[in-house]
This record gives sequence, C-alpha cells and structure tokens, in this order.
Amino acid sequence: MEHVGQTVTLSGWVQRSRDMGGLTFLDLRDRYGLTQLSFNLSVNEKLCMDARKLGREFVIQATGLVKERSSKNAKMPTGDIEIEVTALKILNASQTPPFTIEENTDGGEELRMKYRYLDLRRETVRKKLELRHTLARYTRQYLDDQAFIEVETPVLIKSTPEGARDFIVPSRLNQGEFYALPQSPQTFKQLLMVSGFDRYYQIVKCFRDEDLRADRQPEFTQIDCEMSFVERDDILNTFEGLTKFLFKKIKGIDLPDFPRMSYDEAMARYGIDKPDTRFAMEICPLNEHVADTDFAVFKSVMDEKGLIGGICTAGCAEYSRKQLDELTEWVKDRGMKGLVYVKWNKEGIKSSVDKFFSPEQLKSWMEAAGGKEGDLLLVLAGPLEKTQKALGELRLELAKQLGLRDTPGYNPLWVIDFPLVEYNEEEGRFYAMHHPFTSPNPEDLHLMETAPAAIRANAYDLVINGVEIGGGSIRIHDRGVQQKMFDLLGFTREEAQEQFGFLMNAFEYGAPPHGGIAFGFDRLCAMFGGVESIRDFIAFPKNNAGRDVMIDAPGAVNPAQLKELGLRITE
Ligand code: AMO
Repeated sequence: MEHVGQTVTLSGWVQRSRDMGGLTFLDLRDRYGLTQLSFNLSVNEKLCMDARKLGREFVIQATGLVKERSSKNAKMPTGDIEIEVTALKILNASQTPPFTIEENTDGGEELRMKYRYLDLRRETVRKKLELRHTLARYTRQYLDDQAFIEVETPVLIKSTPEGARDFIVPSRLNQGEFYALPQSPQTFKQLLMVSGFDRYYQIVKCFRDEDLRADRQPEFTQIDCEMSFVERDDILNTFEGLTKFLFKKIKGIDLPDFPRMSYDEAMARYGIDKPDTRFAMEICPLNEHVADTDFAVFKSVMDEKGLIGGICTAGCAEYSRKQLDELTEWVKDRGMKGLVYVKWNKEGIKSSVDKFFSPEQLKSWMEAAGGKEGDLLLVLAGPLEKTQKALGELRLELAKQLGLRDTPGYNPLWVIDFPLVEYNEEEGRFYAMHHPFTSPNPEDLHLMETAPAAIRANAYDLVINGVEIGGGSIRIHDRGVQQKMFDLLGFTREEAQEQFGFLMNAFEYGAPPHGGIAFGFDRLCAMFGGVESIRDFIAFPKNNAGRDVMIDAPGAVNPAQLKELGLRITE
C-alpha cells in the first residue's frame, strides 16, 4: 500500500487474464509474487486490445500507476493494489504451457518433472528453493562465526567407503581406469585435518548409486564438517548449536537441549535407530509375563532367549478381524511368524491366545504396556533383533494409520554408541556400521580380538521426528588401531593399502585427533518445509528410476566417444 500513487515498471509472466467488459485484468507473476494489472477500454483502447491478445506465460513489461483496489484480494500479498497500465511491452510470446502454472496445477508429477523449469515458476515450488537458500545462508553464517573454513574437495576421485555403490567415470587419458564420484568427502576432510585446517566445512554434492526413496536421491547435498583436537561432545555441542540456530532463525523456535539415547536403548524401546519420539507406543518386553507358558510359540522363543514384545495402540480395541488379518499379513511379509493381539473393551479382554492365557494374565500384559480399556495390544515373538525391528516397523505403520506421524512439533535427539561393526551372516564377515575410519569407544578397544560385535563405536546420529538428519564419528587417528579395524573388516594389508594407503600414509605424519559429522542438507530442507520428499527441494531432481526426465539422462553416448575411452558395450 505504501506504493499507491507511484508510477512503477514491472516485468514478468502473464499468469492469467480476465475480460470484464470495459476492463481487462492480468495477473503478472515475477519472483516476488503476483500483481494485478488493469486496462481500461475507455481510457486507452489500443492498450486494452493489446492486453487481451496476451496468452498465458507471455513475458511482458508494464508501466503504470499503483492504485488501491476497489475489490481487495486478501489471499494475495499484493491484493490491496493494482497497476493501472499506461505502457505495455511484450518481451516474448509463449506457447500454451503443458499445465497451469498456478497453486492448484493440473499437471501430474511426471509432466511437471519433464517441464521442471515451468514447475519452478509456481510459487510453492519457488518458495522451497528459497527456503533451501536461506538454510544454506544461515548454516554458513553459523559455521563461519565458529571459525570453520569452507574448502572444496575433488569430485573425480577413487572409491569412498560409505557403503553404497559408486558412480564411476571412465578416464580417457588413463584407458581402462575409472574415477569414482565421492559418496562423501570423508577421506579428504580427514586429510585436511592432517594438513592443519582444524575446522572444515563444505556444502557439497555427494553421489551414491543406491535404490531411491522419498528421502534419497542419487546426488544429494551434505553439510559436511570435520574438527581437530575435539572429543565427541565438542562435535555434538557444535552441531546441536547449528540445529538450534537454524530452528530459531527460520521457525522462531527455541529447541531445548537434545536428549541422547544409546543405540541399544533406541532398539529396545523403538525397534529402530532413528526413533520418532513424538508419540509413545514403545515396545514392551513381555518375556517375564509369559515365563511358564505352554504356548509353544512363546515357549520356543523363550528357550532361545528371543523377545516377546508388545506395543499398545490406544483406542484401537475395536479393530476388526479384517484389519487384524491385514496387519498379520503385513508382519508376515517382514519375516515374522504371526501376530498375537489382545483387545480390551467393555466386554472384557479378548485375545488370539486366550486358550493359553487367563484374562488376568492378558490384562497384566496390557497394563505392563501402559494399556487401558479401549486399547489394543499387538505382540510379536522371535529372535531379539529381528523382533525389535519388526515391532519398530509395526509401530511406525500403526502410527501412520492413526495419523501420529503428523504430530506437530520437532523432537530432535542424538543416537550414540552405535555398534562398531555388523556381522553379515550370508557373507560370513563384519561390515563397518558407519565407515572403517570410525573410532571404537576407547573402553571397548580390548574387545577387538575377542568380541568385536560388542564394541561400541564413537559414532552418533542426529535424528529429528524419525528422520536421520546427520551422522558422524570420532575417527581413528592411530595407524595401529586403523590396521586392526581393516583386519576385522577382512581387508588384506594389500587391499587396505591399495584403497586407503594415501590416508594411512598421511597418518604417519602427525595426524591430530579428529572427528566430524555430515548433515543431509536436502533432508534438513524437507524437515523445515514440513514434507517427507526431498525432491521438491532440489532444483532439478531425478525420478525414482534415477532418471532426469527433463534432460533425458542417462543416455547413450556415440561410438566415437566410447572408442576414445577404450570402452565397448556388450549385450
Ligand atoms: P552418512 O552416510 O551417514 O555419513 O551421510 C550423512 C547424511 O547424509 C544424508 N544422506 C542422504 N540424503 C539424501 N540422499 C541420499 N542418498 C543420502 N545418503 C545419505 C543423511 C545422512 O545422515 N562421511 C559421513 C559423515 C561423517 O562421518 O562425517 C557420511 O557421509 O541425512
């Protein structure tokens, strides 16, 4: 309103036009929003006729007087004013766009991806990129203020150890050899610590050839950091500080200190290492309550020191036979043998195992799990870890059905003390849970030879509302410990030297104690934007098949190019 009475010039796109007899209205869209332009037939006939010829998405420049609107539009930020146009320039014509470029577009996902540059004209989509920019700006501000320095690391490198598949790039100058694209700058940031840059960060592209999901893209961005002369808590405090700073600046929220939970506790209570703690429905172990049962399924699980665990869903005692059958199929698809239920409603307690347990016993399970009349208890039994994970998935599925995953608010927490290694039954070998440079907890070092699976890592993840936002660790900076770790992971000396010799050699020259973390920047953006999919926060994302449908990539290359690279495509 402060511009009323001024003459202004606006440039932008025609979003829509309306003819109302003697008046023509155009909505002009630019980066800042929509403005109504008005043309009066009786004031300037030619101009009005010109305006009527403009189609959707024509690029125009209009000069005119800012006036207060007689019928205001409260939905538009500029809805109180309009521009009475005195001069109009058509800067470019446009074909009719394949979908309407408005809030409620008629374009399907695939079509909008193909014409992503048009989709980006829509305010909601543009706002997501603006949010991304703002988050990047505040991240830099915070880290700059803490004396971090941004250093770029190379993109044509050799395999990094994050555990996904690499994207590889053939080398023309070194035929038969390949670069790998970084899954993260992990090794380089550690080398920078050896170089003496004690606080590094980079907002950086990473590449991982893995199956895609709503929160995974083949190329994504990390806020990648590393610090020297620090212990775990220095890193947690610094990055808890960053997270709080971003929430304060962007959402105006003061987050309380983040709770810390061990991996074991997270698995025992939530069946997952990234618990959504906005709702309870925690796993309740019922082993004690079924100690001397004749029920064969529970008995054999008890004999094998497995878990009989329940989760209580409040207000679900009226779940139908059909709903319970569906849930039973659902858990069977996840490798569980079956699902036991206990319903507590007005008539009393009903259960799929009431042949084996008295109503008092069943009630005691319910009460142990925090249940009351009106609730439903679902029980799974099997080997400990498998059952914890299945209960964790069941908990999230039920939470989704009950709308609990939309609970407002933000529940950040640190998950700490991850196991150092995981045993792969099929391959009969250990894998690093994080990556092979992650330091064991010093007090567990003695277990390296005797009980590696029990060693805790000095590693941590930042989890918010069930999303893994970031993860990192204190690194091994001692060559001897690093060698032991490679031995444990089954790398021969030659393999370790071949793959990571450059890093191990660097550690011979005075490596400082160091550690770091990386946040998934796209996930952070999606969290702030209140959606699950990271795709909208990436200007030009790939679809679930890893394709960019706009530029039609990946694509074939011509035979001459292949020849130059010394490559041949086989059937
Ligand atoms: P990590 O592999 O846990 O750690 O990755 C860090 C964070 O990056 C995000 N992320 C992804 N986001 C989108 N698409 C993907 N495909 C994808 N993969 C991972 C997650 C994750 O928490 N070098 C270590 C960090 C360190 O130790 O300092 C690393 O990359 O939010």
